[in-house]
Amino acid sequence: MHIRIEDAAAHVGEEVEIQGWLYNKRSSGSIHFLQIRDGSGIMQSVLAKQDVSQDAFGLAENLTQESSVIIRGLVREDKRAPGGVELSLTDLKVVQIAAPYPITPKEHGVEFLMDHRHLWLRSRRQHAVMRVRAEVIRACAEFLDGKGFVRMDTPILTPAAVEGTTTLFETPYFDLGTAYLTQSGQLYNEANAMAFGRVYCFGPTFRAEKSKTRRHLSEFWMLEPEVAYMTLDEYMALAEEMMVAVVGRVLQRRTNELAALERDTAKLKDIQSPFPRLSYDEALERLKKSGKPVPWGDDLGADEETMLSSQFDRPLFVHHYPAKCKAFYMQPDQERHDVVLSADLLAPEGYGEIIGGGQRIDDLALLEQRLREHNLPTDVYQWYLDLRRYGSVPHSGFGLGIERTVAWICGIEHIRETIPFPRLLNRLYP
Ligand code: 4AD
Ligand code: MG
Repeated sequence: MHIRIEDAAAHVGEEVEIQGWLYNKRSSGSIHFLQIRDGSGIMQSVLAKQDVSQDAFGLAENLTQESSVIIRGLVREDKRAPGGVELSLTDLKVVQIAAPYPITPKEHGVEFLMDHRHLWLRSRRQHAVMRVRAEVIRACAEFLDGKGFVRMDTPILTPAAVEGTTTLFETPYFDLGTAYLTQSGQLYNEANAMAFGRVYCFGPTFRAEKSKTRRHLSEFWMLEPEVAYMTLDEYMALAEEMMVAVVGRVLQRRTNELAALERDTAKLKDIQSPFPRLSYDEALERLKKSGKPVPWGDDLGADEETMLSSQFDRPLFVHHYPAKCKAFYMQPDQERHDVVLSADLLAPEGYGEIIGGGQRIDDLALLEQRLREHNLPTDVYQWYLDLRRYGSVPHSGFGLGIERTVAWICGIEHIRETIPFPRLLNRLYP
């Protein structure tokens, strides 16, 4: 019977087949220890000369790293083996003998590994990161689906900017001129929210920022909930509840992966409600006291975010940013027109902003004025303005950057390892 390695413990005493690849090999005369991986895990299997045909034993001799193999054997309990089981082989079929494999168990430089990203994904650490990523995405979807949100994906090719015009990738679009790769699904999400009340989109988003930091990708995945009638405070409550749920799910379902990454899970267990909340003004006060003064009106940079978030053991909301450092659609505060009803969520341990969001302008005249102030062409935003003409309501939403969230939960240094094929300022290959 063909099984997957992750299920092997349930098959002790049975003869099974595994379809996989050779991860590593040790030999001592009449016995080969083959570490086999099949995508679901890695299993130690033992090939003893007396148990198999001479052919099969000879084949094992010539097996190179990453050769593809189909093995059969008896699952045996072994407390010392990873996963608690081992396979005593009775047969080995070689599907292909791999050419000398570029990634060996020794150390490699990160650029070399990035050039071989298509192969690097086979390694243990990358497995752990990708499985945490998948779990984060699943947990977000489960959380929102459970609250009656409808997933409605938004277009990638768009006629206009969401987050400001300086970071757009362009592409020619038939006879219609130029199309832009979307920076965020938000504007379409707002239309969807007016139709369905609670919606979210999840997809790739694009920023042509020339940033070369450990937090920036030019293509990243964003999960964006948007809710009709939701206020700023309700948005923060929703985002907080979602983060607690997501971190809890990962702790519960990805214990082995977090262990493989040597993640300090005590820090993740601290991620509980309530999250601290600071207004932008309070944040500036704290920064000043910490010797990092910021002129009022400037956006917070990575260093400032790191300094602020390092003062707390859980994610921190910074709200009521100055209007001038935020996008055109942000709702101004009723009492104070120079600040907007926005909030960013900063992850602890120096990971910086993982969520950005807030309440959107619902007044037609004000939105038209903002478009003009931002030098945006009103014609391509007519459909967006329609949302303020036909039953406009206060509404809010946010965007969670999947890669930054995964980097934080995994406790890894650079965002490039959190997506299968990262797109960076200096990298479009593989
Ligand atoms: O703060 P941002 O730009 O917000 C928006 O795009 C809103 N329209 C979202 C919304 O309200 N629906 O981006 C949201 C998040 C950031 O907090 C960050 O996690 C991630 O997206 N992000 C990036 N991740 C990787 N590389 C980049 N270049 C990123 N830019 C933003
Ligand atoms: Mg932001």
